[in-house]
Order: sequence, then structure tokens, then C-alpha cells
Amino acid sequence: MVANWKMHPGSAAEARLLFGKLRRAGSKQSTVETVICPPFPYLGLFAHSGTTRVSLGAQDAYWQNSARMTGAVAPEVLRDLGVSYVIVGHSERRAQGETDEVVAKKVVAVIKEGMKAILCIGERERDADARYYDFLKLQLRASLAGLQRRLLQELIIAYEPIWAIGKSARDAMGPRDVREMTIFIRKVLSDLYDVETANAVTILYGGSAEDENTAALFVEGGIGGLLVGHASLNAEGFGKMLITANTV
Ligand code: PGA
Repeated sequence: MVANWKMHPGSAAEARLLFGKLRRAGSKQSTVETVICPPFPYLGLFAHSGTTRVSLGAQDAYWQNSARMTGAVAPEVLRDLGVSYVIVGHSERRAQGETDEVVAKKVVAVIKEGMKAILCIGERERDADARYYDFLKLQLRASLAGLQRRLLQELIIAYEPIWAIGKSARDAMGPRDVREMTIFIRKVLSDLYDVETANAVTILYGGSAEDENTAALFVEGGIGGLLVGHASLNAEGFGKMLITANTV
């Protein structure tokens, strides 16, 4: 269960409070792993403060360690702070011009640094001719360019249809459609690698996952977890989602 805080909260004091609450809630779960991804400046506050069930995640990383790249953060810096997961290719970053090529380099760089990459993919909209399948296939293939089969065990895929992000549980993708997409993603992976490798990859769903739709997404949607944006800023609600994820 990945908490993607995006740019929130607005102060270190609030971040400390929220992190503490989520870590407590996450530590109580027996089977669920919780990953908390605060904005970069707060990562140092939480360096090496994960538990066996709660890990620290970053929202992005640069694809090189030592580069002249103003404002970017190197994978080795994240690793040094105890970060073990990095979100790569989120649609909000892709919208800023991040290409599949750059995303693919970031995936490899993050994994080579010893962290897990949470690769985000998702279509902008759904067209009547179902061309989004082709779009997703190309996006996934291009985002994995150069990733060797043996490194796939360090990869997590987050399927996030852009049209479903930042709304409410009512507007999220229905669980049956989510199941269909996870099957499709595994098919693309198995064509690219092999069935066994494809089946071992964890697939998350993201896009208006809230307490209300968590159970259905797990049970009917057949997902391995959720990438949670706005609902992860509410400790009580996110705590309930963790309990649901742990019990379904
Ligand atoms: P949301 O965001 O849960 O607020 O829809 C998800 C995401 O963008 O990762």
C-alpha cells in the first residue's frame, strides 16, 4: 500500500505527525507492506525510520548518480537515506515532459541502486475503439526498455488511468475493469519476458482509491496493492484502507 503524498503537507511539523500516524497504522498490519512517499525535503526527517512493515519511498529519482542536473536527486542519495521504493514515471511527471525513454533509464537506475521501482503507466482517456490498449502496450514496453529479466523481481507496476486520478471512489475505475487491465498488463509482460516472470510482478491500481472502494479493488479487481494519493493524507482513512488490505 503506497502512500503518495505528492506535494503535501505544507510543513515539516505536519509531515512528522502524518508520518508517525501512518507508520503506526502500517506497523500493526501482519501481511501488508506500507510504503510512505513524502516530498523530497522531508525524506531526511524520516531517514532509516522504517519498520519491518513500513518502508520509505521517494516520488522520483534522476537516472544518474553524478550528473550536472540542477534540482534533481540521485538514486544513491535516496538509498543512503534508507529509501527502498521509488515511484517512476508518474503521469504528473510525464505531463511535465518525461518521456518513456527517460522513465526506462530511471527504472534501471533505481533498481541497480538496490531499490524497488514502482513504474506508473496509464492512459489519458478511453476511446470507443479501445486504442488505449495499444497505447498501454507501447508505453509499458518502452518504459521497460533495457530492463533485464532478472531485475523484474524488483519492479512493481502501478496501473493508473489518468482520467481516474484525483477524484473520489465513485469516479475510480470499476474493479472488473481493473481486473481486465491487470490481465492485459501481464500478457504484455509475458510476451516481453515469459509467463512465470510476468505472473510474479506485483500490479497496483491507482486513481481515486479510497476507503470505500478498497475491498472491491482487492477482491474483484485482483490487484496486489494500491497507489494512494489524496486518501493517504488522511491518517484515519488510510489506516482503514490498510486494515481492509490486510484482511481481504
Ligand atoms: P489519487 O492519486 O489517489 O489522489 O487519485 C493517485 C496518484 O496520482 O498516484
